[in-house]
Amino acid sequence: MAGGIQTLCAIVPTPAQAFLTGLMSLSSFIRSTSLRGLANRLCLSALPLLLVGWVSGPQSTFETAGPVARSQTGLFYVTLWVTMIIFVLVAGVLAYATIKFKARNPDDEHAPVPPQGHGNPLVELGLIAASIFALVIIAVPTIRGIWYTYDVPEAEKANAYEVTAIGYQWWFKFEYPSEQIDNVGTLVNANELVIPAGRPVRINLRTTDVIHSFWVPKLAGKVDMMPNRGNHLWLQADEPGYFWGQCAEYCGESHAVMRFRVIALNEADFAAWLADQKKPARTVEAPADDAPKAQLAGYTFVNPGRNAPGWTKEFDDAPFDHWVQKQFPDKDEDPALIAAGRKLFQEKNCITCHTVRGHEGGGLTAPDLTHIGSRTTIAGGLLENSPENLHRWLRFPDEVKPGNKMWVGIGAMAGYMKADANGALTVKNIEVNDDEARALVAYLHSLK
Ligand code: CUA
Repeated sequence: MAGGIQTLCAIVPTPAQAFLTGLMSLSSFIRSTSLRGLANRLCLSALPLLLVGWVSGPQSTFETAGPVARSQTGLFYVTLWVTMIIFVLVAGVLAYATIKFKARNPDDEHAPVPPQGHGNPLVELGLIAASIFALVIIAVPTIRGIWYTYDVPEAEKANAYEVTAIGYQWWFKFEYPSEQIDNVGTLVNANELVIPAGRPVRINLRTTDVIHSFWVPKLAGKVDMMPNRGNHLWLQADEPGYFWGQCAEYCGESHAVMRFRVIALNEADFAAWLADQKKPARTVEAPADDAPKAQLAGYTFVNPGRNAPGWTKEFDDAPFDHWVQKQFPDKDEDPALIAAGRKLFQEKNCITCHTVRGHEGGGLTAPDLTHIGSRTTIAGGLLENSPENLHRWLRFPDEVKPGNKMWVGIGAMAGYMKADANGALTVKNIEVNDDEARALVAYLHSLK
């Protein structure tokens, strides 16, 4: 096995390499029998390397990008070092005693019991004092961290931007209470929280159903979204950037895929984004001759099946650039196909649950799709918003996200399926074929 891992190490990048090297050392350690092997392999090489392997990635809490996350990571390190020192001291004494006093021959095995004492008051008091000291070292920054992360510091309150995040099974709605649209009300967005960089953002946390939890590993978290109770947290991104978010409280069958994104923009870009978002949905005029010119062109759809990866490497490598790209209309738009999609969006009853402001949709139970074409992800941050993925989501929603409301319905409203006489979801209610999905994709992607 070690040989295979070594070959892998030669071709994979550093954090993964460190992780694999760590694993390799760990496996040699498990096979080794000598204490010296333990000390050399585990303590000196494997452990730090294993740690390096864990610190990287889009949901790493070690690569912090804001003051709240830094405060949380700082606290983690204080706790880590204090407990590490205690571990080394206790394990050292234990190892010393084990080696120094072990039985070396049959005589030792039957030696008389050494004289028994009743403890050493100085050592005992010393250990109690040392324990209290260690707890104080951890408690002071912990309490300071709790206060700091609880709410925006007083001095910066006036500068804070306010957003409300609402958890649904299984997606996030974001409301911008300071952005009001005439005759509409509050600006809302789904699954992608766009915030100003370099400025504190206070997030009110709500839920419409069960307990969810709001977590952006590189910025802040986690705080629960509780039914019938207002919660909040604050975060700040140092620089413009693209961050992963995740529901961090078990909330039902698709909890693990209840994700979102945070996009931090500089002040000017943020203002421009808000202005765009306040506009009603973009309309692409249908041509007089309304035969779609490319009914089946553009991409080939092959259902990749359950649990297929939801994004490409290109997107993963540069998500922020992809987000910027998404703000502009696609180059190969087909107005006739878009018009057909808009019609299908009504006929398939999508409008009952989804809002497309300025177009026909007015439903409030599902994500607002007014500007869905400008988002990088769909299905609660699970899939990259590519034509193929949106097609897959519209054709096979239950494969992508088990139990989702578009499939099972919500309350008395049927979804793709509806209940039979026994209450089982066996009757097909909405069906979307490949051609229809293609038209719906063209329409939804035109909503910039
Ligand atoms: Cu929502 Cu877990």
